[in-house]
Amino acid sequence: MILVLLGPPGAGKGTQAQRLTAERGLVQLSTGDMLRAAVKAGSPLGQRAKAVMDAGELVSDDIVNGLIGERLDVPADHPGFILDGYPRTRAQAEALDAMLGAKGLHVDKVVELVVDEDALVDRITGRFTCANCGEGYHNRYKLPKVADTCDVCGSHDFKRRIDDNEATVRTRMAEYRAKTAPILPYYDAKHIVARVDGMASMAVVGAAIDAVLPG
Ligand code: AP5
Ligand code: MG
Repeated sequence: MILVLLGPPGAGKGTQAQRLTAERGLVQLSTGDMLRAAVKAGSPLGQRAKAVMDAGELVSDDIVNGLIGERLDVPADHPGFILDGYPRTRAQAEALDAMLGAKGLHVDKVVELVVDEDALVDRITGRFTCANCGEGYHNRYKLPKVADTCDVCGSHDFKRRIDDNEATVRTRMAEYRAKTAPILPYYDAKHIVARVDGMASMAVVGAAIDAVLPG
């Protein structure tokens, strides 16, 4: 199965992708995570992407298409992918279809997380993740079960993203409205879009996503 999770910053793409990975064995492909890893490693790609990401703008289509293309070589028994934060422009959506088509694959489902943008600033400025395994948390909506200890790996080391401040979030939302939301008609024309209320609790959003996925 190839699933695309679409939604503005803080909609819950990463949260739901991590859950689907844990529950269904699907492989999460997050271009944001890949780019942050490149920035951390100080690679030439990371050096090019850093300023753009810190400003909340989109990095170039060529860069992210390349990152995804490198990861689409899969054996026949592969469980499938969740694309989290990709595609984000019409050109990326078309490149994805071309890359998948060359392997006899296609996007099976696009889930749009429908959210109220004003509530998302609160979600994003409260977000933190485990620095060791990447598990996501929130100051109010999802605290570790034991204080300062990751539920998944037991690490005590947590981090926050540089772009998780209100000013940058507003730019990221504007980028979503201007460049990413317009790809929905492209997928609507293929009749593969399901819209899910992303403002419900994490568990209710998860159940609504499960209800629209095959199997
Ligand atoms: P990326 O990392 O993809 O960031 P984003 O799209 O801004 O989305 P977020 O990761 O902020 O939100 P999310 O939907 O994953 O929310 P989460 O589940 O964490 O991209 C970062 C940057 O990289 C971009 O700005 C761009 O520069 C670059 N980039 C990446 N991909 C690119 C591409 N394809 N093309 C060009 N540039 C690209 O949830 C947020 C918080 O809310 C968490 O704390 C969580 O615990 C909490 N939460 C989640 N669900 C709920 C719920 N239902 N109720 C209450 N709280 C919830
Ligand atoms: Mg994310």
